[in-house]
Amino acid sequence: MGKKGFYVTTPIYYVNDVPHIGHAYTTIAADVAARFNRLAGREVLFLTGSDEHGQKVERAAQQRRLSPQEHCDRMVVPFKELWKCLEITDDDFIRTTEERHVKVVQSIFQKLYDQGDIYKSHYEGWYCVYEETFWPESQLMDGCCPECGREVEWVKEESYYFKVSKYAPTLLEHIKKHPEFVLPDFRRNEVVSFLESGVTDVSVSRTTFKWGIPVPFDEKHVVYVWFDALINYVTGAGYLEEPAKFATFWPADFHIVGKDILRFHAIIWPTMLMAAGIDLPTTVFAHGFWTIGGAKMSKSTGVIVDPNLLVEEFGPDALRYFLLREVTFGLDGEFTHEGLVRRVNDDLANDLGNLIHRTVPMMEKYVGGVIPPAGESTSLEEELKGLATGCADVVVPLFARLNFREALIETWKVIGRANKYIDEAAPWALFRNGDVDRLATVMNSLAEAIRITAILISPVMPQTAAKMWAQLGLSGFEKQRLDDARVWGKVPVGTRVTRAEPLFPRIEV
Ligand code: MSP
Repeated sequence: MGKKGFYVTTPIYYVNDVPHIGHAYTTIAADVAARFNRLAGREVLFLTGSDEHGQKVERAAQQRRLSPQEHCDRMVVPFKELWKCLEITDDDFIRTTEERHVKVVQSIFQKLYDQGDIYKSHYEGWYCVYEETFWPESQLMDGCCPECGREVEWVKEESYYFKVSKYAPTLLEHIKKHPEFVLPDFRRNEVVSFLESGVTDVSVSRTTFKWGIPVPFDEKHVVYVWFDALINYVTGAGYLEEPAKFATFWPADFHIVGKDILRFHAIIWPTMLMAAGIDLPTTVFAHGFWTIGGAKMSKSTGVIVDPNLLVEEFGPDALRYFLLREVTFGLDGEFTHEGLVRRVNDDLANDLGNLIHRTVPMMEKYVGGVIPPAGESTSLEEELKGLATGCADVVVPLFARLNFREALIETWKVIGRANKYIDEAAPWALFRNGDVDRLATVMNSLAEAIRITAILISPVMPQTAAKMWAQLGLSGFEKQRLDDARVWGKVPVGTRVTRAEPLFPRIEV
């Protein structure tokens, strides 16, 4: 029997620095997936958190003259605050320094050691502290880290290794049988060729610093930060401690990650799970990167976008909409302020805003501000109704593959049709001619179209959807489900509309 719940995760972020737009992007995408599935009536677990161990965090703490734990306790705050500002609805925030996680990591490490999948050896080679990654000499770029370009350090130490190579062939078979295991498709091809080229075992412990989870049977060693961090996904689902929860949510439906950390998630993590005898997640989805002026965001070059400032300027919904509408999830995108302003003006102020700000005043002027009953419908209403009530079924398969951009485009077709409907039905003319019955039908249909639109946009734009609901004078917004967007005629006749400030005032450029 399949599991009941829907489980989506973000990477757990390093607390060496404050969050930027890249972190916000992944977290917003996961939030939208979580909200959409709740709307569809599923029980959801949405996990995010912080990756607190490792050399990079230890050094950041040293620089600030704090203990690593104090440093983490302080640095986790801006992440949690940002998620609040962005309307993120995580069900759990896991910190890898928590006792519940330490226990699981030690137990899995011990199990793999006992069964011979972890063995003692020596590591000698290059290490990038910033990426917390071991690099073979052949992969360095001009002697530096191929991922971030920083200097690498020579590491020579005793180390435990995990037998990735033992499980790699089974993983390859699994991916071939389950192409949805890595999305988008072009990323899966990368993973497959990497696996086909042959993988080596990975070092999973360190001895040259202290800030990590102790290896349970060898106190000289701490667990390698990636081995520790990846396990958060099962800790958060209740592995070991909460079997009922684990059975409900594991395997995860989506691990959403940036392309930079796909190999950890699509190669090392599944082989760890196989060794531990735990089912593999359904999909690892690797999204692209936002660049600025073509460059990767980085603190050292000063190329960075602070999501807090964007939320202050545009509000959370506009930012959420922009990030998911502008670029197909999976591809890279160039972040520009002008691009964001253009989306706000064209799609939000114009298309969406106009629909509400034309309809509500017309209701007040033509029908006394009260939603009237619909009379006989014409082909105009039938077309609007068909498109609006059919939209839920159109977006379901798109959300199922995290194709947020297409889902928004489809939803905006309803908005576009409703705006055109106003022009075609011309309520002002009906009012002038005293065609009361027809006017009532038109006003009622517009209320329906807005109601359905509000439900459909709610995963991406929760504040806006709630405001639209309030302007229609409706209540019970939180109780709405996707099924309510599949039917026409649910607005209670006699509801009094409430005019309000524009949802998205035009931004002058
Ligand atoms: N701690 C690890 C993840 C462990 S998961 C078991 C880590 N943390 S991180 O703080 O560096 O966050 C990396 C993630 O942030 C990326 O995978 C991606 O999701 C997001 N992004 C960071 N920069 C980004 C962009 N410029 N653009 C889009 N997303 C990016 O790696």
